[in-house]
Amino acid sequence: MPTNDLAGRTVFVTGATSGIGRATVHALAAREATVIIGARSDDKARALVEELRRQYPRAPSSVVAIDLASLASVRRAADIVLALGPPLDVLINNAGRAGRSGTTPDGFELTIGTNHVGPFLLTELLLPKLRESAQGRIVNVASRAHMGVKRLDWGALARPPAIKGGYSAYALSKLMNVLHAKELARRLADTRITTYALHPGVVASDIWRELPRLVQWVMMRFMITNEEGARTSLYCATAPELSTTSGRYYDTCREVQPSALARDESLARELYTRTDAAIQSVTPHH
Ligand SMILES: NC(=O)c1ccc[n+]([C@@H]2O[C@H](COP(=O)([O-])OP(=O)(O)OC[C@H]3O[C@@H](n4cnc5c(N)ncnc54)[C@H](OP(=O)(O)O)[C@@H]3O)[C@@H](O)[C@H]2O)c1
Repeated sequence: MPTNDLAGRTVFVTGATSGIGRATVHALAAREATVIIGARSDDKARALVEELRRQYPRAPSSVVAIDLASLASVRRAADIVLALGPPLDVLINNAGRAGRSGTTPDGFELTIGTNHVGPFLLTELLLPKLRESAQGRIVNVASRAHMGVKRLDWGALARPPAIKGGYSAYALSKLMNVLHAKELARRLADTRITTYALHPGVVASDIWRELPRLVQWVMMRFMITNEEGARTSLYCATAPELSTTSGRYYDTCREVQPSALARDESLARELYTRTDAAIQSVTPHH
């Protein structure tokens, strides 16, 4: 049934130009939310915003360029969002990558930099705008893959990185997403802002692009659609019954237990402090 229950609410979604993020902004615009599309690709973003405006003329949508692998780009994007008129009601840290090794322009391991360090800085910078909301929410799209991590190797935050890249770095970055949401919940306990981390399901998106084609083809047959994959993000971003619940982890629109490491409060604090310090070490005067 069509509904406009999100009219007047502003939601910033990163990585909105493909996969789960794209399905998420469609669903939000269908409910008349004001959607801000965070995208690294200008062409894809422009095409998406035209599509949204055509399909949901009552939902205002706009684009903010952001490359989460670059702290300078994250700062520029945050400045633009901070300068917008209305409060920010929801930030969905959805953008993510998997599979390839390398380093970011700031010297972080590529997957850790893109999936954790960039979103961490973005979230910090947008807090003032989220505080303006009657009930701000921060939603980290993590993954069940975090459960495979046996220990948090702090070499992951070193520059140059002192861990292996690829899929093990991916699992670690997703553990960081869950811990980040947990620690933020603690830090923001005396505000109206709530936080969530989630597993979207195993989704036939573009995230598998680094795998061999045949493997992709076989796997896709067992995966859920991007629309189904967006459901838990939408639940965390909008469910009225979650407005006073914070710092928890969700799968299939239900709260579930994350791994023992992800439940470790002191690890969550340490991750926050170390990530903050790592970012400061790149740009100590900002
Ligand atoms: N698919 C799954 O089964 C699954 C399972 C668990 C968790 N997740 C999580 O779900 C989230 C969304 O992934 P997806 O499955 O929808 O994959 P996807 O189709 O590959 O989408 C990822 C999005 O992130 C964007 N992105 C990648 N690197 C970026 C960067 N440096 N700066 C800005 N944006 C960047 C991509 O931009 P482009 O459009 O320009 O490529 C794309 O829009 C990720 O956080 C992923 O870890 C996915």
